[in-house]
Amino acid sequence: MAAARARNRNRPVTSLESLLATKEIVICCGSGGVGKTTTAAAAAAMAAAHLGGKVLVITVDPARRLANALGLERFGNVESQVPQELFAEAGVEPRGELWAAMLDTKQSWDELVRSHAPDAATRDAILANPLYENITGRFVQSHDYIAMERLYEIHASGRYDLIVVDTPPTRNAIDFLEAPDRMADFFSSRLLRWLTVPARSRVFTMASRPFYTVADRILGSQFLQDIAEFFLLFQTMYDGFVARARAVTRTLSDKRTTFVVVSTLEAAPAREAEFFIEALAERTFPLGAVVVNKVLPEWFGDREATAVAQRLCGGPAGLAKAVADAEPGVGDPAQLARVLSEVGESFLNFQVVATREAEQRAELAAQADVLATVPYADHDITDLGGLLELGKALWR
Ligand SMILES: Nc1ncnc2c1ncn2[C@@H]1O[C@H](COP(=O)(O)OP(=O)(O)OP(=O)(O)O)[C@@H](O)[C@H]1O
Ligand SMILES: [Mg+2]
Repeated sequence: MAAARARNRNRPVTSLESLLATKEIVICCGSGGVGKTTTAAAAAAMAAAHLGGKVLVITVDPARRLANALGLERFGNVESQVPQELFAEAGVEPRGELWAAMLDTKQSWDELVRSHAPDAATRDAILANPLYENITGRFVQSHDYIAMERLYEIHASGRYDLIVVDTPPTRNAIDFLEAPDRMADFFSSRLLRWLTVPARSRVFTMASRPFYTVADRILGSQFLQDIAEFFLLFQTMYDGFVARARAVTRTLSDKRTTFVVVSTLEAAPAREAEFFIEALAERTFPLGAVVVNKVLPEWFGDREATAVAQRLCGGPAGLAKAVADAEPGVGDPAQLARVLSEVGESFLNFQVVATREAEQRAELAAQADVLATVPYADHDITDLGGLLELGKALWR
C-alpha cells in the first residue's frame, strides 16, 4: 500500500480522492465548529471504503458523537476497528479497514512520560507528583501538542496506510502547528531553569530569595517544593522531548503529509481559513485541499426560482385563492397568502446569503488545488451511512 501511495504521488491531484490516495497523513484543521471532526471521519470512511488499506481516524471530539456515528461503544486512546458490518448496513462493501481512536490527553501524557523517563524511579515520581496531572492536563496547548505527538508515534509505527487527524477546537488555529516547537522551547526556557533552581541547589540565589520568601508564606513550602520537583523531574526528559518535538514538526512538512483546511462560508470562519492558509505557507506545511462545509444548495441562484419567489412576495392573493379553490381544506386564503409571501421573502433572503457564499468560495478556491464543497445536511449525521453520504460530496 505504501508503495502504491508513493507511485500515486506523481499523478496530478484533482480531487480529495486523489489527494488521499497519495498521502499518509491528512490533517483537518479550521476554526471552531466548522465541521473538522465530521470531515475527518467522512474522509477516512471514504478512503477505507473506496481506496482500501488500513485507514485510521484520530479524533479529539470529546462529545462522543462521532464514536456513536462510527458504531463504537468504547472508543479510546487505543485504536479500535469500526465493524465491517456497519459498512454493509450502509450498503457499501469496503475495500479496506477503518480504525478510530479518540485522543485521551491524560493517557497520552502518561505514555509519553513512560517512554521518555530515564529510569523507573523518575517515571514513577513524575506520575505520582500531585502537580503532574494538573499541569499536563491544563497548560495551554497540552491538547494540541499531544495530538501531534500521538500522530507522530502512530505514523512511525507503520501500522496504517493513511491517518486522518481531526484537530482540537483551538482558540487560534495556528496554535497546534506551533505546539511541538513551543514545547521544545519551553524545555529549554529560562522559566523552567528558574523554577527548578531551589530544588537543585537548595541555596536560593539572591535574586529569587524575596520571591520565594513571599511565595513560601502564601503558597506554602510544600507546594513550591512540588512545583520545583515536578519541573526538575520533567527536565530529565529534556533531550528525548526536544528531539521528539522537532521530529513531529519535520513530519508536518513531509511530502507524505497534507493539510485540509475546513471552513464554512460565514465571514469569520472564512477569514480565519485564509489566515490559516497563509500560516501554512509561511511554515512550508503543504496545503492539499480546502473543504467548504455547510453551504447552501446551488439552486438558490436559479433564475426561475427567483422569479417565483418575487411573484410570491409581490402579490400572492391570486395564487392563494387558486390553491384554496383547488384544495378546499387548506385554510383561509388570506392566511395562505401571508404564508406564501413569507416563503418568497425568506427565499430571497437566503439567496442574498448564497450569492455572498459564492464569492467567498471563489476566493478560497483560488488558494488550493482542490476545493470540495459539502452542502448543509438537513439532518444530523449519526451513523456511518450519514458520513459516507456526506463523503460523496467530499470526493467529487
Ligand atoms: N454538512 C453538514 N451539514 C449539517 N450539519 C453538519 C455538517 N457538517 C457538520 N455538521 C454538524 O455541525 C456540528 C459541528 O460539526 P463538527 O463537530 O464536525 O465541527 P468541528 O469543527 O469538529 O467542531 P469543534 O471545533 O467544536 O471541534 C455537528 O453537530 C455536526 O453534525
Ligand atoms: Mg471537532
